[in-house]
Amino acid sequence: MLLSHMLDMSGVDSVVLERQSRAHVLGRIRAGVLEHGTVQLLRMVGLDARMEREGQRHDGTLVVWEGRPDFFIDTRGLTGKRMMAFGQTAITEELYAARERAGGQILDEVEDTVIDDVLGTRPRVRYTRRGRVHELACDFVAGCDGFHGICRQSIPARDRREFRREYPFGWLGILSPTPPLENILYARHTRGFALASQRGSNLSRYYIQCGPDTRPEDWSDERFWDELRARLPRELADRVATGPSLEKSMAPLRSFVSEPMRYGNLLLAGDASHIVPPTGAKGLNLAVSDVFYLHRALVEKYTRNNDVYLEGYSATALRRVWTAERVSWWLTMLLHEFPERDGFDDKLRENEFDHLCRSEAAQTALAEQYVGLPYET
Ligand code: PHB
Repeated sequence: MLLSHMLDMSGVDSVVLERQSRAHVLGRIRAGVLEHGTVQLLRMVGLDARMEREGQRHDGTLVVWEGRPDFFIDTRGLTGKRMMAFGQTAITEELYAARERAGGQILDEVEDTVIDDVLGTRPRVRYTRRGRVHELACDFVAGCDGFHGICRQSIPARDRREFRREYPFGWLGILSPTPPLENILYARHTRGFALASQRGSNLSRYYIQCGPDTRPEDWSDERFWDELRARLPRELADRVATGPSLEKSMAPLRSFVSEPMRYGNLLLAGDASHIVPPTGAKGLNLAVSDVFYLHRALVEKYTRNNDVYLEGYSATALRRVWTAERVSWWLTMLLHEFPERDGFDDKLRENEFDHLCRSEAAQTALAEQYVGLPYET
């Protein structure tokens, strides 16, 4: 929808096909930390009013390591850039409204989608909606249909390469109508990783590392709060405002990249071509930077018949993807408990944290990646 909105601003027509209903899309609790570049881009495309009103400034992150003093990474001080905590679902609501105002086409509950002839000059997309089969002819197909979508799968296996890493745990998350802690906080603890985040002045989001087969229905709100607080130092645990949960869900952790991101006139973006574990909150931001590069490539093609950004799309987007893959993997390794880890691994990990606390250079390097690398021009 963001790509469709930006293309429309540049005078390029598009149709969005969505498998789910709008109610389903808007009912999902998604990511919530916006990199500096994401915030800037939303401002540039006129989607910032609600973010400025309801979003929380996010200028640094607290790392709480069991048995050590709390450590604050001052991302704003180290980089001069500001981030925001603002929910993806709210951005999606704004996008629906903006597309509607502009008369854009977002077709929901689309089934049996098949894409054809993306290597030719006139790709086609066939789909069923409300019991009727339709066919769309187009110049390009933007594959923004997520990890389980059909777009990546329609690239022949011999023409792509997959890279993956699975982690032996997941995150159990809750959303609660309670005031969040002052800072977003990442905690390393022998009971497992914990994360405190925020969605608004009276809306908080928390996660705890859990076994891969954990069932949310086995976790009462009370059990969740007890486990979360057990992973935090006493004074922070006492400051967690507990309350009912509005949502409780399990997310697996995985790293995944499928290359290339372009196959003829099919261009993949976001989770359709790459997944990061949520540690570091890069997933949504990567989808936004892919859209930035993809929009530029298409607009350059239509306005100047220049293919240079189209040709470079995959390589340019993947450079940024791999940086996010590396930092998400690194934070995941640093902060989680791994069943098979030995003493040597633990010593290295502790030393990494020591180095981070003592070295402003190390903090700056992490902060630069956490606020998000600038888009390549
Ligand atoms: C979130 O608010 O959902 C969130 C925040 C920070 C992360 C991951 C998720 O690293």
